[in-house]
Parts: sequence; C-alpha cells; structure tokens
Amino acid sequence: MAKIDYSQRSFSYYPTNAIISAKCIDGVWTEPELSDSFELSLHCFAGVFHYAPSCFEGAKAFMGVDGKVRLFRPDENAKRMINSAKYLDMPYPSVEMFVDMCVKCIQANWEHIPPYESGASLYLRPVLFGINPGLGIKSSKDVMFVVMCSGVGTYSGAKSLSTGTAVLSRNYDRAATHGSGGYKLGANYAQSLHAYNIAHDAGYRELLFLDSATHTHIEEFGSSNFFAIKGDTYITPDSSSVLPSITNKSLRTVAKEFGLKVERRMVMVDELATFDEVNSCGTAVVITPISRIDDKPTLEGSEITRSFSYGEECGEISRKLYNRIIGIQKGLEEDTYGWCLFVEPK
Ligand SMILES: Cc1ncc(COP(=O)(O)O)c(C=O)c1O
Repeated sequence: MAKIDYSQRSFSYYPTNAIISAKCIDGVWTEPELSDSFELSLHCFAGVFHYAPSCFEGAKAFMGVDGKVRLFRPDENAKRMINSAKYLDMPYPSVEMFVDMCVKCIQANWEHIPPYESGASLYLRPVLFGINPGLGIKSSKDVMFVVMCSGVGTYSGAKSLSTGTAVLSRNYDRAATHGSGGYKLGANYAQSLHAYNIAHDAGYRELLFLDSATHTHIEEFGSSNFFAIKGDTYITPDSSSVLPSITNKSLRTVAKEFGLKVERRMVMVDELATFDEVNSCGTAVVITPISRIDDKPTLEGSEITRSFSYGEECGEISRKLYNRIIGIQKGLEEDTYGWCLFVEPK
C-alpha cells in the first residue's frame, strides 16, 4: 500500500477499517458490534429523518512522541453527549459505554492513527440518533449509537496556527436565547450551514455568531468557541446558548497555570476593538488565530462598516497556550491533570 502523507490532510472524511455501533431498544442496549460496512439500514419513518433527534461528539486520539496513543478527555465528551440526549429526551450510553466504544473504535482502526511527526490525529465522531418509526412529533424512545473515525489534518487545511479572517453574523443566528445552542445537536449545525456557505464564499474562514436577542454580544464561531487575550487576561463568553467546549475548558485551566486571569463573562461586540489576540478554539480547530474580524450589516452585502485587526501572526500568549495543550495531547509535556486516556493496541 502507498504510504499516506498525513501532513497534507485536511479535516475531512478519509476511509478507515471499521465503525462500532449499538442500539437501545425499549430501554435495553445491545452488545456493541464492530462492522467493516459504513452503511446503516434504518426505517424511513425513523425520527432522525424528520425531527432531528440527533446529537454527536468530536474527540481526538494522538500518536505521542513516545509511541503511545492518547485519547483526550473522552469522559468530557461522554458527559456532554448525555446532556444533549437528555435535552432531546432520548436514551443515552453511560460514560463507561461511551468511552469503551471509542477505545474499541481506535483499536479497530489502529493503522489509521496518523504518525506523530505528521501533525495529524485520529478524529472520533460518536453519533446518537433516534431510530424507532413514528409520525407524530415525539422524542425517540429507541436510539442507535455509532462511533466512527477519520485520520485528519488541520481544520482549515492550512499549517497549524496560520491565521484566518472572520465575519460577524448580523443577519443569521445560530441559537435562540433559550434554545439548544448549549447542546451538541445536529440541528444546531443545520441552522448555521447556509450562513456559513455565504461567509466562506466571501472568503472568510470563520463566522462569528452573536446573541440572537440583541446582537450586541459575542457567542461563538460556527465550528468553535471564541476566546481573546487582553493584557494578562483570558476572556471567553459565558452564555447558555454557547456550546461548552472541552478545549476552551482545558485552555482556561492552562491559562491559570501561566498566571493569566480568566474571565468567563458576557463579551460585548464593541470590546473587539480592545483585544490583543483573538482565537477560535475547539477539538477540530485546536486554536486558530483570527487576523481580522469584519462587521457587515448583512453577510450577503459588500459593505463593511468596521474591521478589527489582530495581526497576521498568532499572538505570543495564544501560541504558548497552543503549545501546552498540544504538548499534553502528544506526550511532549507532563499531563498534570490526567486528561489523556492511554489506548493500547488490541
Ligand atoms: C459550535 C461549536 N462550538 C465549540 C466547539 C468546540 O468544542 P470542543 O472543544 O469540545 O471540541 C465545537 C466543536 O468542536 C463546535 O462545533
């Protein structure tokens, strides 16, 4: 087989060996099963096709500098999926079952774990969705839980820590004030796809959503959380309609290690003018520094009313945070918090 150049990979689906799945029918889980078929057979009246009872997660496994494979904070992903499923009123796997199926998925796809030097990783995508047939608007009582994976490179396809531009989303909202934005539901992403396409077509890497009630404060990017550095302070929005990012949570811990103050609070759009460094953060994007944010009355229009610039290079503090997080994930730095789960080959 030709050697794969993982360093050229972007954040995409690349074929692997197997997926692992289990179903919960009438409250009882089936034994998880590995399969080399990536196709599922579902009833066309299954809830997932109609009312979107579906939630998912994203986690990464890394080949470390020491040749050991580390899965980053899978228990946090499990807990977040449980919260999402509770919001949808449907059954969910336990934390133990979730983590165990992630581990089995990694083991079954061992040769697809990108090598350490490539900078790529094995991205795990656990998905939970309603499968029992129905017609009325109702939560799903039966669900399927599938864990799949792909060996991925950086989200933007660019080199790590290369900067990208963003635009404020003034005429499209991602999440309602009392809605589902704080859960990782497929439906939240469906809501952002059209706006994302317009932003991408206009050349922006990221789209920054605002609070849907007043459009005066910052929520998050379409694919990731927002954080800024101002002097010696790490600032990130606190809002129930923002997804509680595991990367952001980890960065807040690391920021304190570096003596930074951490503020998790409402962040006004006007404050963008006062920040030294602005970034998006998440499992897929890790940290992506933002070079400029444009403010436009509409995404479709060409008028730019103001721009906030942060430089073409990643800021010094953001780079330190990035190195510490990646260092823990790849075994270059001590995992003081016990965040990594070591996975052995089968
Ligand atoms: C909308 C959104 N916000 C934030 C995040 C970051 O969350 P995490 O750090 O847990 O990956 C993601 C996913 O990566 C996301 O899709």
